[in-house]
Amino acid sequence: MSLPGPARPLGHTIHALATVDSTQIVAARLAASGATEGTVVTALHQTEGRGRRGRPWLDKDGESLLMSVVLRPPVPPGQAPQLSLVAAVAIVDALRTFGELSAAIRWPNDVMVGERKICGMLPEATTSGPGAIGHLVLGIGLNVNQAAFVEPLTALATSVRMETGHVHDLARVREAVLAALDRWYTRFLAMGVEGLREAWLERSQSIGRRARAGDGRVGVAVDLADDGALVIRTDDGEMVRILAGDVTMEAADAARH
Ligand code: BTN
Repeated sequence: MSLPGPARPLGHTIHALATVDSTQIVAARLAASGATEGTVVTALHQTEGRGRRGRPWLDKDGESLLMSVVLRPPVPPGQAPQLSLVAAVAIVDALRTFGELSAAIRWPNDVMVGERKICGMLPEATTSGPGAIGHLVLGIGLNVNQAAFVEPLTALATSVRMETGHVHDLARVREAVLAALDRWYTRFLAMGVEGLREAWLERSQSIGRRARAGDGRVGVAVDLADDGALVIRTDDGEMVRILAGDVTMEAADAARH
């Protein structure tokens, strides 16, 4: 029996561009005009790179993997953030192929090495009628060949080069990320979040850490729910499910109070 999966491997068509406003914008335009699932846009530099919560995502020419992947998951729009879980597990796997690089997931969208961020993800979905995603553009910004970061990022960001001690070929990094993403996305299509849960927990640095929900409740992250919510045990002993964007993870030295 064949499992449901993307029509063709992710990355079957790659638009490798030099400078763009944002690969998210280019990929969304392609998706709107019918680009199939797995179409990928990369750029060496973005002039209007965007991060989560409307923040800019800055880069220097040729230093990062700046990539947007067109997906058409058959899930309701409310489940779009689950694609960040898929991507995060895949990025950690891809980074493991580059040597002793101990990356871990900070819920929901960051991949970290220790307390420094190495990769961010941005899933942006459009709806097509009630209850269905038209397309979802999954943006990935992975720091690859930065030799150092300047303030205020020095203590906050790292790159594959800084962690491994040498420069990496961006095309090879892209292939490693796409191969891992294809694997985990195929599993997600077949099994939903349940198919990722164990892998996510094993790769997470958030479990056991203090977390603060948007409504002010504070507790310790204890699990990933089957809809992708983070489960927190509050200081009052209550189990609370928190959805993406509604929680702040505290740093390691604040953990395990
Ligand atoms: C975050 O804030 O952590 C998410 C960052 C996502 C950045 C990537 S880079 C490729 C794609 N194009 C964009 O403009 N943003 C995403």
